[in-house]
Amino acid sequence: VGRRMAEFAGTGTLDKGLEHAVMGESRLTLVEGETGGLSYRGYSIDELVGHASYEAVVHLLLHGTPPTAADVTRLETDLHKLRTLPAGARGVLQSLPVGLPPLEALRTLISSLGDGRSFPYPPTREQGLALVAQVPVLLAGYVRRSQHAAPLDPLGGLGHVAQYLFLLTGRRSEPRQVRALEAYFILLADHGMNASTFALRVVLSTQSDLISGATAAVAALKGPLHGGAPSKVSDMLDSVGTPENAEAWVSAALARKERLMGFGHRAYKTEDPRAKILKRIAREAADPERLRLAEAVETAAVAALERAKPGLRLYTNVEFYGALVLEAAGLPRDLFTPTFAVARTAGWAAHAIEQAADNRLIRPEVAYIGETPGHRWPVG
Ligand code: COA
Repeated sequence: VGRRMAEFAGTGTLDKGLEHAVMGESRLTLVEGETGGLSYRGYSIDELVGHASYEAVVHLLLHGTPPTAADVTRLETDLHKLRTLPAGARGVLQSLPVGLPPLEALRTLISSLGDGRSFPYPPTREQGLALVAQVPVLLAGYVRRSQHAAPLDPLGGLGHVAQYLFLLTGRRSEPRQVRALEAYFILLADHGMNASTFALRVVLSTQSDLISGATAAVAALKGPLHGGAPSKVSDMLDSVGTPENAEAWVSAALARKERLMGFGHRAYKTEDPRAKILKRIAREAADPERLRLAEAVETAAVAALERAKPGLRLYTNVEFYGALVLEAAGLPRDLFTPTFAVARTAGWAAHAIEQAADNRLIRPEVAYIGETPGHRWPVG
């Protein structure tokens, strides 16, 4: 029975968007919104990018400590073995129509990993690693199928990120591209109680399984207010066209009451720390013309947003320079959000395990503001 609006009045508990609600405890990721900090298990992203591989970050999130050299070897072997898809998922991959947006295909494909046996509740680290290993294989398999090309077998000796690019293209990517995408993967690996992770935790809280949770997570990631923005950033940059046009373009967009993609964040009230690092990576890897355009749009947009929404502190978020880095890695726009999903599997797995270890059904209230009960049903 929903509680009525009046019961919430003055209690301070009605919190649209749950911005101030705290749904539990976590040891995974600290998001410091006011100061612009982000760390996994006590390791700042500034420390991780350039020092750790994505695989090492997966280990850090799943186990709580950095991997030893022996752990890394074992992890690489395990990931390689797990890249072989189960028969059921291979069948679904073959039967999907070609030409779907890859993210829609990925949502179905992640679900196909659940065969009632392989991922029983409660989730384990091994299951988490299987999710990390298999999602990029599924996605790349679908992309190849859409190009009427056979799926590629994983190549031994490649790191996880280089492997992903190889499975998509059949080529070894340039080290500069792999380095840029590896930074992106590390920065996107987890991010506190974001919408997709929350969706996953809600599903896990019913004692449902990891694959069901990950399917819900990718569904939540699809929306432009969460993970669906980076391709729109690229579209925006195309539409702005030249650095000289940036000011006029953003002012006109804000006058039409549009949201500028890649700006603003629920948690960060300063520049998103991931955007800062991605800007540095973009300076090393992106096309210089494109970078000049992006920097002009950033400057114009931050100033225009401050004029339009004074005091709201709207700055670039991860999606803005993320788009440039994904472009530089050679990925097409319809793979931007799916690639975000591939990177985020690490965080989803770690959160599923954490939720199950200290579970309580997640079931918030809603304030009822509808008709007062007592209406008579029209008869005759
Ligand atoms: N462009 C224009 N205005 C923006 C904005 C943007 N990118 N981001 C926030 N605002 C404005 C809103 O219009 C709103 O103004 P109002 O109160 O006058 O209506 C105010 O800032 C607060 O926005 P709200 O949607 O309540 O904040 P939120 O915390 O729910 O939103 C985002 C966070 C990320 C959803 C939001 O900043 C956004 O839509 N950004 C663009 C999409 C994007 O980049 N998504 C990727 C996220 S990583």
